[in-house]
Formats: sequence, structure tokens, C-alpha cells
Amino acid sequence: MAMMACNNTRPRKLSLPCRTRTFQALILSTAVFLAASTAVVVGKEPQPPSSSGGGCHYRFELTHVDANLNLTSDELMRRAYDRSRLRAASLAAYSDGRHEGRVSIPDASYIITFYLGNQRPEDNISAVVDTGSDIFWTTEKECSRSKTRSMLPCCSPKCEQRASCGCGRSELKAEAEKETKCTYAIIYGGNANDSTAGVMYEDKLTIVAVASKAVPSSQSFKEVAIGCSTSATLKFKDPSIKGVFGLGRSATSLPRQLNFSKFSYCLSSYQEPDLPSYLLLTAAPDMATGAVGGGAAVATTALQPNSDYKTLYFVHLQNISIGGTRFPAVSTKSGGNMFVDTGASFTRLEGTVFAKLVTELDRIMKERKYVKEQPGRNNGQICYSPPSTAADESSKLPDMVLHFADSANMVLPWDSYLWKTTSKLCLAIYKSNIKGGISVLGNFQMQNTHMLLDTGNEKLSFVRADCSKVI
Ligand SMILES: *[C@@H]1O[C@H](CO)[C@@H](O)[C@H](O)[C@H]1NC(C)=O
Ligand SMILES: *[C@@H]1O[C@H](CO)[C@@H](O)[C@H](O)[C@H]1NC(C)=O
Ligand SMILES: *[C@@H]1O[C@H](CO)[C@@H](O)[C@H](O)[C@H]1NC(C)=O
Ligand SMILES: *[C@@H]1O[C@H](CO)[C@@H](O)[C@H](O)[C@H]1NC(C)=O
Ligand SMILES: *[C@@H]1O[C@H](CO)[C@@H](O)[C@H](O)[C@H]1NC(C)=O
Repeated sequence: MAMMACNNTRPRKLSLPCRTRTFQALILSTAVFLAASTAVVVGKEPQPPSSSGGGCHYRFELTHVDANLNLTSDELMRRAYDRSRLRAASLAAYSDGRHEGRVSIPDASYIITFYLGNQRPEDNISAVVDTGSDIFWTTEKECSRSKTRSMLPCCSPKCEQRASCGCGRSELKAEAEKETKCTYAIIYGGNANDSTAGVMYEDKLTIVAVASKAVPSSQSFKEVAIGCSTSATLKFKDPSIKGVFGLGRSATSLPRQLNFSKFSYCLSSYQEPDLPSYLLLTAAPDMATGAVGGGAAVATTALQPNSDYKTLYFVHLQNISIGGTRFPAVSTKSGGNMFVDTGASFTRLEGTVFAKLVTELDRIMKERKYVKEQPGRNNGQICYSPPSTAADESSKLPDMVLHFADSANMVLPWDSYLWKTTSKLCLAIYKSNIKGGISVLGNFQMQNTHMLLDTGNEKLSFVRADCSKVI
């Protein structure tokens, strides 16, 4: 078993070991695809094929939505802020119970590119990578370009509506069970203007690269359940985005469908959106590669599933410290109080915790002679202008630490909590308006960090990393 799989970085040699009975891995190896696409397959402690996606290790490139636009730091911040407001509003509505769906609209920042069935690679589709969504969907227009899809039977375990299909009832014949289609409807944040609905199909999914020349190959997965939206009123801010690549906890999410009990991702700096980021589907990612600051300091905290939000990855944030002060990050409740959300740009903290953070930050910035701007000037954002005479001393600002349960400390250097624009520093953390004291861990705080979500062991691990070196 030890030698079975994938322990070779050269894609053409990897197609065989990964092609197992339960997990079909097709490597496209024409010169064109090699030049144009990515996914590295390297083996680390191969696992039996029946578990964790056949022991294979796939690295997919993600692009930042603002890549290659040559935007200034000010423009990048404004755009991220605008995107994040949509997510925040829909999350608030979600927790209000004013929703019929189960998810909130992702704020599209990191994009994955794929095509379906026998579509041409040029017809590739871009979707938001979202740990806060379960269903993987795109538009019917995109889906229908593939002629190899088949309808997902309502009684399939991959059909979320299965409970309403009457599967196994005596009056439904076996053939009828196969024919009944699986429909889905998602109303994001309870606003009918932000909804999508359609029919689930199964088709081959091929994930392609966008820009990287370092790891050239595509990767295909057979019989992936995908929602094909016949009605979508939801509009992403960027019209090139045509769906959601759901990485949530439910049976319809991609990692679950592909039998990966773990996956990890490493998001590059927000200030440098042209850099690639990575999603790794793997049995055992190597958290040490790419890790910065000694390499071995991988922190691990328990996932604490929250029965109100079954699809989300919750952890327990205990305290926050900054500039020599440590304060509690929870009121009284134990259990999961913060979820990991690649569909959100910024972290959002429960009201009292956020207020305490601002008090501490005000003190720290005042000591360093920064001047707090009127909140009205920046859309209500909290910003500080530097002392006019002094040289730029932002790099001397203290780290912030998020203390999670199990002594897992996430250290955020100043530029992972403050956004530096040409003239000021703005807090890149906001107040959460989600009911029940729930906070959100967003992408800005996860940048340059290798994050591993391990549902098999119910753990989140993380380590600061140079994401370009993660394999
Ligand atoms: C995942 O595991 C299930 C149950 O063991 C199996 O039926 C299915 O074919 C597997 N899927 C893949 C893509 O390997
Ligand atoms: C990027 O923008 C800067 C200033 O906005 C401009 O000077 C530069 O020429 C631009 N570069 C490209 C490649 O468009
Ligand atoms: C994705 O589609 C775009 C637009 O058709 C094309 O320029 C690009 O080369 C495609 N990517 C791949 C990997 O084929
Ligand atoms: C939905 O869109 C319509 C037309 O654009 C608008 O009049 C209506 O107020 C919107 N509804 C909500 C709940 O936003
Ligand atoms: C840290 O959090 C724990 C658990 O919420 C709390 O009991 C403790 O008082 C906090 N410590 C500090 C210094 O705030």
C-alpha cells in the first residue's frame, strides 16, 4: 500500500496510480493542456483508495477576483469592502430566520476555474470557492454545453432534497425512483432577488489552471453532482463568476462527494492579488512546506459543529490579544462561536468583542501618534492617518493574536488586521451582525496562512506560510 499512489510530481506518470476503482483521476496530457492548466499530484503517506479520495493529492490554483487589474491599494480595499457588505447583510438575514435556503451569498474573492463533461477548455467556468456553501452550482447555460451529463436521481445520496423524494416507498417503483429529478433552490439571505434554483445533474468535472506554469495539469473527477440553475436572480458583482464551488460540510459539497475527509487552502496576500492561491484536496497535506517562522509551529483546534448551521466549519475563539492586552472573545457560551469562511473577505467579531478590540486599537494607535479619522469619512470604516512628520512605522505595530481552544494561537501581523492604503491604515475587521454571538473568520485574516479543514478528525490546523511554496 505504501507505494501505491501519486508520489511523483510529474503529472503524466500520476494518472495510473490515481486511477482506482472508486476514484477516477484523468490527467490530460496534451501539450495544450499542459501549457494551460494546473494541479499537482504529489503523494504524502498514501491512504487506502476507499478513504480520502484514493490517497491522491491535488493542488488547484485559485485566482483572486482582482487579479491582473492593476488596481491601487485604495481601489483594492474599496472593492473588497463593497463585496464584503453583501455577504454580511445576507448572513444577518440568514441568522434572522428570514431565509428559506441554508446559505448566504458568498463574497466572491477567490475563484476556481473548471469545465464540465465534454465542454471545451475554452468554455471554462469561474466559481467562488466557499467553505460556507454546500451545493456546487453553475448556470444551466453553462451546464448544458456539456452533452455527457445525466440527471441526478432524487433518491441519490447526493440529492439534498432526498427526504422529500419518497424514496423507498412501496408505491414508487425502482424505475420511478431513478427518474424523479432532484431539484434545489437556494435563497441567499432571504432576499428573493438573490436566489438560484434548478435541477441537479451528474457530470465529469475538470478543474483547470488559470495562470500557473509551475504545476501544469488538469484533473478530472467523474460523476460529480452539480446544480444547474434555471433561474438565478442572484448577480455576482463580477459578471464572469458563474456559480459557487461549495466546500461546506454537507454530502453535496465537493470534498465530501470526492471522498476527501480533509482539504486545505492557502490564500496569498490581498495586497498582491496577482499571486496565485491554492486549494489542496488531499489525504495528508504537508503543513510544513511553505511554513514560515520555523516551519513546525502548526496549531490545531477542534472543530465544534453547530447544530444551527450544519454546513459551516465552526471553531471556538476564546480570547484576543493585542499590544499587551488579552480579553475574552466570548460572552458565556461554550462551543463553536466563529466559523471559517472563504466566502467572506473580512473577519467579523461579535459586537462587544469588536468594541473592545477598537478600544485597544485606538490606544495603540494613539500611543504611536496616529490620528483616528471620523468614521463618516470612510463609509463607517475605522481608519487612522499616520503622524505627518514621522517615517512610516507601520511595520512596528504589534501582532494581534486570535486564541482558539486547545491553545491554538493564530498570530496576525499588523498587515493581516490593518489595510494600508496610500494615506492611512484601516481596520480590516468588522462588527458581526449575526445573531447568537457568532463571529466569522474571513479571508483577509487567513491570507498567507495554510488552513487545513479535517472533518475526519474534526480539527482545524493552520500555520503561517508562503502560499506559493505550499504543495
Ligand atoms: C466515495 O465513497 C463512496 C462510499 O464508499 C463510494 O460509493 C463512491 O463511489 C466514492 N466516490 C468517489 C468519487 O470515489
Ligand atoms: C498600472 O497602473 C499604474 C498607475 O495606475 C500605471 O502607471 C501603470 O502603467 C499600469 N500598468 C499596467 C501594466 O497597466
Ligand atoms: C478559459 O477560458 C478563457 C476564455 O475562453 C480562455 O482565454 C482560457 O484560455 C481558458 N482557460 C483554459 C485553461 O483553457
Ligand atoms: C428586488 O428587485 C426589485 C426590482 O429590481 C426591487 O424593486 C425590489 O425592491 C427588490 N426586492 C428586495 C427584497 O430587495
Ligand atoms: C480567555 O477566555 C477564557 C474562556 O472564554 C476566559 O475564561 C478567560 O477569562 C479569558 N482570559 C482573558 C485574559 O481574557
